[in-house]
Amino acid sequence: MSTLLIYGSYGYVGTLVAREAIDRGLDPILAGRDREQLREQVDELGQAGRRFDLGDPDTVAEALADVDCLLNCAGPFSNTAEPLVEGCLRSGTDYVDITGEIPVIEAIRDRDADATEAGITLLPAAALSTIPIDCLAAHLADRLADADALALGVDAFRIPSIGTVRTVIEGADTGGAVRRDGRLEGVPTAWRTREIDFGRGERPAVTMPMGDISTTHYTTGIPNVEMYAVMPQPARLGLKLHRYLAPVFESKPVRWLLKQAAGVRDGPSERARRRGSAYIWGEARTEGADGERVVSRLRTPDPYVVTVDGAVTVAERVLAGDADAGFQTPAGAFGADFVFELDGVEGFFDESTPDASSPVNPLLR
Ligand SMILES: NC(=O)c1ccc[n+]([C@@H]2O[C@H](COP(=O)([O-])OP(=O)(O)OC[C@H]3O[C@@H](n4cnc5c(N)ncnc54)[C@H](OP(=O)(O)O)[C@@H]3O)[C@@H](O)[C@H]2O)c1
Repeated sequence: MSTLLIYGSYGYVGTLVAREAIDRGLDPILAGRDREQLREQVDELGQAGRRFDLGDPDTVAEALADVDCLLNCAGPFSNTAEPLVEGCLRSGTDYVDITGEIPVIEAIRDRDADATEAGITLLPAAALSTIPIDCLAAHLADRLADADALALGVDAFRIPSIGTVRTVIEGADTGGAVRRDGRLEGVPTAWRTREIDFGRGERPAVTMPMGDISTTHYTTGIPNVEMYAVMPQPARLGLKLHRYLAPVFESKPVRWLLKQAAGVRDGPSERARRRGSAYIWGEARTEGADGERVVSRLRTPDPYVVTVDGAVTVAERVLAGDADAGFQTPAGAFGADFVFELDGVEGFFDESTPDASSPVNPLLR
């Protein structure tokens, strides 16, 4: 049987991923840097455990020597992806993670040639951001073959886990980002607001620097991408103020205080996860006077449910040898319909092109 190792297995998402992987019979090795937390989890779940930190690439490679696929749940990934990818390249281990951080995805893509040579798959962002969004983008590119521009959005505002808060704070000084003419372009935080109909009436959404700006571009080849997220008014205001408060966020003591404040809770409860949902919207356009526009939507379970299901399903597919070597995106590796391998995902709900094979959009009724 192939060997899966979950790094960061005792974090909030890591714990859910570990339980799901065990339920599916994957018999994962649990791993992380903290002896106490790891021992507690190993005792509780009855799985093998492996403690190692990420300071020395040889140590990481040694720890992965007998592992076929590493699933990295240890974020912020700006601190963990690079040493773990390096370890995977040296040990010949496939790499999967759940990052949503653009610089991390771009840095992993930069190792594409190395991964191809080593015969391993590097598949970051196997999470809510970006599996459904990437698959929706691939579907839109199939509908409008010559599209020049993608706008994508997610309506899933919910109280995040502590780890997500820490990751956002860690990246708080990077501002916003869009993709223009194939290149990443820095823009102010919450640069543009757009009224988007996710299938239940228009809601204001703001541009967000989410990893989908990278993955959907590499999946579809479409050169212009903007990513939007619905935010309640106080959060939108906060994001705009962030432009002026950025120097304050950059100060180490303030970041430390925010991280401590964010440490009061782990993440959404099981009840909240069962009740949650996410609405995904996407638009592809061709520019010019007779430009065309197509819109499609998806509805998914709670973001954390999708993340856990998505991460484990991607790891299963990678372990089965279904993904090519080199840098891969979720839809690039497994196709637009991969999203329907996840429980409870509904769609694609297509607008503007009558298509008998498309389900009628119950969101629009
Ligand atoms: N893309 C998406 O849609 C999506 C969805 C959900 C979550 N996420 C991301 O997933 C990440 C994890 O979230 P979470 O809620 O599970 O966070 P969490 O509860 O804080 O867990 C983080 C885990 O990472 C480990 N870790 C952090 N920095 C490390 C380092 N430098 N070296 C080794 N281990 C390190 C922690 O171990 P220690 O306790 O030893 O520090 C812990 O096990 C976050 O970055 C979050 O943004 C992304």
